[in-house]
Amino acid sequence: MTNSGRRPIALPCVLLVCALACTAVVYYTDFPVSVSPCAYYLSRTLLAVTGLDSYIVSCADEASTGTLGSSDGGGRAKTAGGKPIVTDILHCGKPTLPANALPPYQCCPPMPASEPVDFRLPDPSEPLRTRRPAHVAGADYMAKYERAIALMKALPRSDPRSFYQQANVHCAYCTGAYRQVGHPELPVQIHFSWFFFPFHRAYIYFFERIAGKLLGDPGFALPFWSWDVPEGMRLPLPFANASSPLYDPLRNPRHAPPKLVDLDFSWREKNYTDEQQIQYNLRIMYNQMITNSPSASLFYGQPFRAGEADKPGAGPVEIYPHNTMHIWTGDLSLPNVENMGVYYSAGRDPVFYAHHANIDRLWETWRNITSGDQRHDLVFTDPDWLDSSFLFYDEEAHLVRITIRDVLNIDKLRYTYDGVGIPWLNARPPQTLIMNIKRKSGSLESTRFPLSLDTALTMEVTRPSVLWRRSEKAMGDEVLVVEGIETDGTGIIKFDVFINAREYEKVEPSGREMAGSFVCLKHQSMDDNTKGMGVETTMRLALNEILVDLGAKEDDSVTVTLVPRHGNVRIGGLRIDYSIGD
Ligand code: C2O
Repeated sequence: MTNSGRRPIALPCVLLVCALACTAVVYYTDFPVSVSPCAYYLSRTLLAVTGLDSYIVSCADEASTGTLGSSDGGGRAKTAGGKPIVTDILHCGKPTLPANALPPYQCCPPMPASEPVDFRLPDPSEPLRTRRPAHVAGADYMAKYERAIALMKALPRSDPRSFYQQANVHCAYCTGAYRQVGHPELPVQIHFSWFFFPFHRAYIYFFERIAGKLLGDPGFALPFWSWDVPEGMRLPLPFANASSPLYDPLRNPRHAPPKLVDLDFSWREKNYTDEQQIQYNLRIMYNQMITNSPSASLFYGQPFRAGEADKPGAGPVEIYPHNTMHIWTGDLSLPNVENMGVYYSAGRDPVFYAHHANIDRLWETWRNITSGDQRHDLVFTDPDWLDSSFLFYDEEAHLVRITIRDVLNIDKLRYTYDGVGIPWLNARPPQTLIMNIKRKSGSLESTRFPLSLDTALTMEVTRPSVLWRRSEKAMGDEVLVVEGIETDGTGIIKFDVFINAREYEKVEPSGREMAGSFVCLKHQSMDDNTKGMGVETTMRLALNEILVDLGAKEDDSVTVTLVPRHGNVRIGGLRIDYSIGD
């Protein structure tokens, strides 16, 4: 099978319709089946009879349309709403891709030979895999990654461990190809929610083990792209070598090394000196990892449970800088900024796995940071999070169901990180002095939500009085919620949020008044799942530290300025939420 699109399978699919209509029911008699010859409930036996390669059949042209019964295949079926989300192995269908997407146009993995097995932790006597930063790992270390990618690329596309199929995993989990057990109309979407960190951890865990297996090296560890530390703020050199298997021609040519990454990138190249760029990047890291991540519920992203609408709200690291780095890397001259700049194709660039190893390292870093007298070593205890599960093929090409509970301890997963510090810990953004005089200049026009964010908008948001009456110590998290963020998904979105800075143009880049940025890649929604909108989500910005730094913690309101930077977006409203500390 080539990646030349859907046509080659159309004929065999049509020819099969009649036979399947009669026989499919036999194999799955316990639930009603609506027959779609290219959907996933074809049994292995049928495939053998027809002589069709399972890979070919899995390139479903349509998602199944019927009320396909649910089985999680792993004996952990959940059906009612508000439960863990379980990936339905029987229901992988057509991905929803943006216009002008590049082939392949499908991303379901090969159908498994048997039911998925439940994940088991590696043997504690396995060698510990030490992931090292790409910029200092050394030539031998990077050559191993090159060889691993070359070996994966050389596997037949029908092999679930091939690079082709590994790249497709990401596509299947972000385009609505996979659906939820019990909710065939709803996608398993692993962005914009509390699934972001654990899903990607599990994904690269299996990727790394497959690479190790192909290399015959059980200690093989992924390199990570530490774009958050000054020495790592460039595309690592081996990825830029056009004759390396790590090279991807679909990248922004202006961002080849030695160009420094811009964690605030939105289309426009800036004229900062290297020193400035590094400083601003570090401030963004501080803001997202510390200021905006005071608690687990803010750091991980919003809860997403079975039966609920997807994309409830991304955590601060996912939204910015993670999304920004995708856009910075992808080719801006392409309509969808492939490969890295759009989710369906991001896994096709070998740098994706190094990027996500860094995201995973940041998760581990956050958990070990001490803030005040408290460690961040918190994970949710919510079983809807812990028991949500995903499907991956392991290094033996067995399909495995892995839960979030399974991935919370990297010692038990037998890997670790080494080689860089966290210099952004000391990069608390400074207040822009000129802004010290709070608002005062004229009254604010009243704002009616929802609105289309076409120009910068400033409004006053009242703080719940309990907040300005309580001492700082007694305050829990005070959070500005930007609600009802809507975009049709056909363009990249970026808007910035400033606090107490009506003259936001005067704020230093990543200055203290800039509370955060909303960054969103192109994102088509499933035709059968929405009101025609690509993304409807929320953003949360923690105000505690900013209000302390701006000397505004006793004010009864904050001034919020929303500044559009790229794309068309609507905003549903603003409010301040809070929790009260002990
Ligand atoms: Cu699933 Cu970096 O995206």
